[in-house]
Amino acid sequence: MATTTPASPIPQEIGKVLFVDDEENILHSLERLFMDENVEVFTAGSGRVGLEILAKHPDMAVIVSDQRMPEMVGADFLEQSRKIAPQTIRLLLTGYADVNAAIDAINRGGILRYLTKPWKDEELVQTVMGAVQTYQLVKENKRLNAVVQRQNEELKRWSQELEVIVQEQTTELRKSYDSLQAINAKLRINFKNTIRAFSGLVELRDPRMRAHSFNVAEVCSLVAKELEMTPEERETLVVAALLHDIGKIGIPDFILRQDTEQMNYEAREEYVKHPLRGQAAVDVIEDLRPAGLIIRSHHESYDGAGFPDGLKKKEIPLAASVLALADYIDVKNRRFGSTLSQELIRKEVEAQAGSRFEPKLVPIVLAVADKFYRKKRRTTEEAAREVELSPDELAVGMELNRDVLSGTGILLLGKGKVLGKTSIDLLRRYYKLDPPHQGVFVRLQ
Ligand SMILES: [Fe+2]
Ligand SMILES: [Fe+2]
Repeated sequence: MATTTPASPIPQEIGKVLFVDDEENILHSLERLFMDENVEVFTAGSGRVGLEILAKHPDMAVIVSDQRMPEMVGADFLEQSRKIAPQTIRLLLTGYADVNAAIDAINRGGILRYLTKPWKDEELVQTVMGAVQTYQLVKENKRLNAVVQRQNEELKRWSQELEVIVQEQTTELRKSYDSLQAINAKLRINFKNTIRAFSGLVELRDPRMRAHSFNVAEVCSLVAKELEMTPEERETLVVAALLHDIGKIGIPDFILRQDTEQMNYEAREEYVKHPLRGQAAVDVIEDLRPAGLIIRSHHESYDGAGFPDGLKKKEIPLAASVLALADYIDVKNRRFGSTLSQELIRKEVEAQAGSRFEPKLVPIVLAVADKFYRKKRRTTEEAAREVELSPDELAVGMELNRDVLSGTGILLLGKGKVLGKTSIDLLRRYYKLDPPHQGVFVRLQ
């Protein structure tokens, strides 16, 4: 009888089917029944023979076994076949009355289902072919799972290798970045040093102005911090402060030595060009152009009476207004040397808040400058009150103005100590044993 089996989604290999029955005519009719199906049929007249065949063909797709057989009942045979070919699908072909035997086979033999004798051809073929297909699907599924697992492992290996490569490249990049950073840092230091060197050039010509730009830059830097400027803005302001008077290089000495208030028309004409000349001098260096703009405006006045552009109020860059104040205060500090003068300078600056200077900046810059110059004056005074002597020049009664440390850093005597004979001997001995890097600083009487 012609039968149809469900279409398979996968390419079929020929499935193997084993029929086990002690009745030869049943085996014959089964063989005939499956002649036209896409299966290889094996037959066995007993469970023992069935097991032998199975040992040679463990890839058997389906076993169909009779239950009642003389040597070995179907349930026993199926149970043993399970050990040889666990994946094989087992079916039991049994008479109507053998329900208990069927249950036994289900439990021990792991059968998929049981079929009754006499069978209906179509039902038997469909069941067996369905089982063959199930076997093949399970097998294919396993194969695919194995492939997927292999690919997953491959993928995992690749991703680990990739990670290593990325890691290596990142390390390389980091190294290049670090060395670039180092070069950059070096360049920046060189750049700053060059600017400092340039800033000193103008002041070389006028001893009264020594360290003027340096002081102005220090005050500007502190004010920028106070105003919470960005690091770039702060640096630009400091550079502008260091170079603000670079345009004075072209001005003759006799004009530079005059106070601006005393200059005649021609001298003043020459003098007012220095902010523009300063800007032009730095303009060739692209990085210095923002500082150039500040340099140009450092003599602008809040009320518009300044030069070179007569800008007023908000038109003047904030950094230029800070610079103008710091510049003015430093010049004044050179004219009045005593502590008392801080008050005079303060009054003078405050009097010009809103006219010459941006009123909001006045208290901020004054506070910063006050601190800065007080500290500076203390250091200068301190330095002026001491003298550096060699140990042989020391005399009883002298007072130490600084701690004395041995060459390896041991504190020998503290600041303020008045020298006696013993301490002088001690110092002389140490200057031989563990020589300090400098002389002994004593207070001038
Ligand atoms: Fe100036
Ligand atoms: Fe100046």
